[in-house]
Amino acid sequence: MVNKKMPRLAPSLLSADFSCLGDALRFIETRGGSFVHFDVMDGSFVPEISYGQPVIRSLKSATSLPFDVHLMVEHPETQIESFAKAGADYITFHAENTVHHRRIVQMIHGLGKKAGIALVPSTPVAAINEVIPYIDLILVMSVNPGFGGQQFIQLCIEKIKKLADIQQKKGNNFLISVDGGINEKNISLVIGAGADIIVSGSAFFSGALKWEQVT
Ligand code: DX5
Ligand code: ZN
Repeated sequence: MVNKKMPRLAPSLLSADFSCLGDALRFIETRGGSFVHFDVMDGSFVPEISYGQPVIRSLKSATSLPFDVHLMVEHPETQIESFAKAGADYITFHAENTVHHRRIVQMIHGLGKKAGIALVPSTPVAAINEVIPYIDLILVMSVNPGFGGQQFIQLCIEKIKKLADIQQKKGNNFLISVDGGINEKNISLVIGAGADIIVSGSAFFSGALKWEQVT
C-alpha cells in the first residue's frame, strides 16, 4: 500500500517569458510550485528547440526548488550526464526514444539523480512494465509533446488510473506526473485519477490556474 501524499505542482518554464527567467522562478516559488519543470526539446523528436544545459546551469543557483528535467530528445543516453552535472534533480527520458530503459535508469541513478520515464499518449503502460519497479517517476503526457498550450487529451485519464492502481497493488513508490493541457477546469479530474505531480505551463503562467485554489 502506497500512502498518497498531497499532489504537487511543477510549473513548466516553457511558457515563461524567456527575457526574465529569474522573475519566472520567483513566480513559481510564490505561487505554490514544488519543482521547476524544464522541457528540453531537440528539434528532432519534437519540432522545436527550447533550451539545454547552459540555461539550467545558470538558473540552478537562483532557486532551491528541485529541477525536473523532461528530455524530449533522441539518444537521451548521450545527454544524461551533462544534464545531471548542470543541475537536474529528476531526469525523465521518453520510453519511445530507446529500447534500453533499464540501462538508462541505472545511468541516471549512478549519477545520484532520480529517474523518470515519459509516455506519449499513444504509448501504453505495458511498454514500461519491466522497468516500473526501478523508476522514481512516470510522466504521462496528456498532449503530444512539442508545444505548450495544446488541448488536454482525455484518453490519458485511463492511463493515470492504471498507474495509480499499479502503485497501490504492487506497492511501487514511483510518482505519477501528468504533463500537457492541464488547466483550472480539468485539474480536479487529473488529481482524482491519481496524479502526484501536475505539470502546467500556459495555465500557470497566465494566472488562470491558481494552485492555492486547488489544494
Ligand atoms: C509539452 C511539454 C509540456 C508543456 C506544458 O511538450 O512537455 O510541459 O509545455 O504546457 P501546457 O500546460 O501549456 O500544456
Ligand atoms: Zn514537460
